[in-house]
Amino acid sequence: MSGHSTYEPKSGIEKWLEKRLPIVRLLHDAGVSYPTPRNLNPLWTFGGILAMMLVIQIVSGIVLAMHYASNSALAFDSVEGIMRDVNWGWLIRYIHANGASMFFIAVYIHILRGLYYGSYKEPRELLWVLGVIIYLLMMAAGFMGYVLPWGQMSFWGATVITNFFTAIPVIGQPIQTLLIGGFAVDNATLNRFFSLHYLVPFIIAGVVVLHIWALHVVGQNNPLGIDVKSEKDTVPFTPYATSKDGLFMVLFLVFYAWFVFYQPNYLGHPDNYTPANPLVTPAHIVPEWYYLPFYAILRAITFNIGPIDSKLGGVLAMFGSIAVTAFLPWLDTSKVRSGRFRPLFRIAFWLFVAAVLFLGYLGSQPADGNAVLYAQVCTAYYFAFFLIILPVLGFIEKPKALPNSIIEDVLAKSKH
Ligand code: HEM
Repeated sequence: MSGHSTYEPKSGIEKWLEKRLPIVRLLHDAGVSYPTPRNLNPLWTFGGILAMMLVIQIVSGIVLAMHYASNSALAFDSVEGIMRDVNWGWLIRYIHANGASMFFIAVYIHILRGLYYGSYKEPRELLWVLGVIIYLLMMAAGFMGYVLPWGQMSFWGATVITNFFTAIPVIGQPIQTLLIGGFAVDNATLNRFFSLHYLVPFIIAGVVVLHIWALHVVGQNNPLGIDVKSEKDTVPFTPYATSKDGLFMVLFLVFYAWFVFYQPNYLGHPDNYTPANPLVTPAHIVPEWYYLPFYAILRAITFNIGPIDSKLGGVLAMFGSIAVTAFLPWLDTSKVRSGRFRPLFRIAFWLFVAAVLFLGYLGSQPADGNAVLYAQVCTAYYFAFFLIILPVLGFIEKPKALPNSIIEDVLAKSKH
């Protein structure tokens, strides 16, 4: 797929560069002549949208950092200063704060697309694992960013989350102390979180380069999940994929702008407009919406499992729920990639989506009464999906007949 390069340097500068640093060839092969399956649907534009969001977050973040003070006595006021006194500061802050949510919306669509169409299967296992690493880094960046305004949710969120580490025997306590830079969340915590929050997006950018490199070696999957067999199955990346990616980027930006201009605080929490106060605990400590399913899994473990007490059990379940996704390429035993041809998988997949959404809702509610029971059922399904259903389905499911080629399927559809 990465195949033979069709680039020929024409102008003098291109020829000069070609001998010294063939970067124009690289860009041409990756962004112009790159063969793209001709049947990609709009779900394949989310990789591009994610790349755009990463750039928006880095650029807006750098500008915010010019005005932000990472000191626990000044942080809250410096953010208010950005909102009121810095020219366009309110806009830059709302772009960045809502951008985090948009980034997660896009990544969840991107991940579910990969899950539905079996994009993680051979030969795209490493591409998928790099994606899981990116997702973990995104979670770390989002968490540390939320601490920076030093509001009530920042402070208490940081306290609750870093406290999880103390559940780990022996090394847990020292890890927590190292993480927060002392025995309680304080100025040292804020400083190191700011430093790391600035760093992590650049690490993400590095892993994204590997992600796209791996993609270009193995080639894109497509809604049929069958391999590209001839040139007829593909179209050149430019203009076909670039124009489609461009259109969906603009549509996504409109959706994003609606939040920024009309509902800039809808996805945040009002308590974060109250300065951090270590002496007053908020009524409900809730993380940002994109962590809620994992928060529900954490709180679902209310019982001891042998020597593992419920606190450690919850922490293991929460980290386990993400770690298990890294093994997906080897857990799913089906030879057929796309969910379109897998009737039983499709049911299991939509139940999985429903369970995660319900877990998200439960994560936002107080953990009492039936909420705990529902969270336990959904958590059990979450793990069963990866550890039992996907391994077993490959053996018992009878997939529908696959088309012979992408072009044959496209032409058959266009006849109707
Ligand atoms: C900053 C975050 C990310 C960026 C910028 C990014 C970028 C991209 C791009 C540009 C593509 C090709 C276009 C497309 O298929 O949409 C792609 C494909 C892919 N990504 Fe990501 N990605 C990110 C996160 C993730 C995550 C978190 C996962 C999974 C856990 C993942 C898994 C995949 C897979 C499996 C493909 C191949 C899809 C296919 O060809 O069917 N990516 N990514």
